[in-house]
Amino acid sequence: MNITFARLDPVGADHDALVDFMTRNEFPFHVRTRPRAADIEGLISKGAYRDEDNDSFWIDHGELGRIGFLRLEDLSDEDPLFDLRLDTPFRGRGLGLQILRAVADHVFRTMPSVNRFEGQTREDNIAMRKTFHRGGWVKEAHYREGWPVDGGTPLASVAYSILRRDWETGETTTFVWDDLVL
Ligand SMILES: CC(C)(COP(=O)(O)OP(=O)(O)OC[C@H]1O[C@@H](n2cnc3c(N)ncnc32)[C@H](O)[C@@H]1OP(=O)(O)O)[C@@H](O)C(=O)NCCC(=O)NCCS
Repeated sequence: MNITFARLDPVGADHDALVDFMTRNEFPFHVRTRPRAADIEGLISKGAYRDEDNDSFWIDHGELGRIGFLRLEDLSDEDPLFDLRLDTPFRGRGLGLQILRAVADHVFRTMPSVNRFEGQTREDNIAMRKTFHRGGWVKEAHYREGWPVDGGTPLASVAYSILRRDWETGETTTFVWDDLVL
């Protein structure tokens, strides 16, 4: 089913809906799992949802309507990252894969200078990690203790990416992880 992205205006028309979305959902694998309205207001005012590095979108599904939120990050670099958050009722239904494919389509079609597109998630976010693998993204790094956990021991941050040429061909360029013989 068709996935589209509606660019959102964090300081105008979409401000209240953005604060509502971020505060009524729980994000168990994000650094801030239960953001408060003040946290989101702070992020909005420092441009975290829209500035030269960031842009944010609602994710719309042809049948289900508005199902989540997407932020593109590091846009002034040529290898941007993203943050994807489904609204709770739409999690656990396999929609993440369709969305990930649509996000890569959006980035590679609308940003001709982007050659690689990256994503990171916490090591125990199995749903997101399976979604990356199924979408043909390649694990490129496992940053041990790289993900702070509120009141707990840091976990690993796992980094994936997709290359433009893999997006174009549908093939996955791999590499030999243990390439250096010692
Ligand atoms: C992460 C997210 C995008 C994944 O999309 P989704 O459509 O909800 O993914 P699903 O829950 O359908 O999971 C994908 C696969 O992982 C499997 N899976 C999920 N949790 C699992 C677990 N703990 N152990 C084993 N498999 C698991 C699912 O069973 C599914 O496999 P299947 O199709 O064979 O059944 C979505 O859940 C979400 O927005 N979560 C909250 C925000 C978030 O964590 N975003 C990631 C930031 S990068």
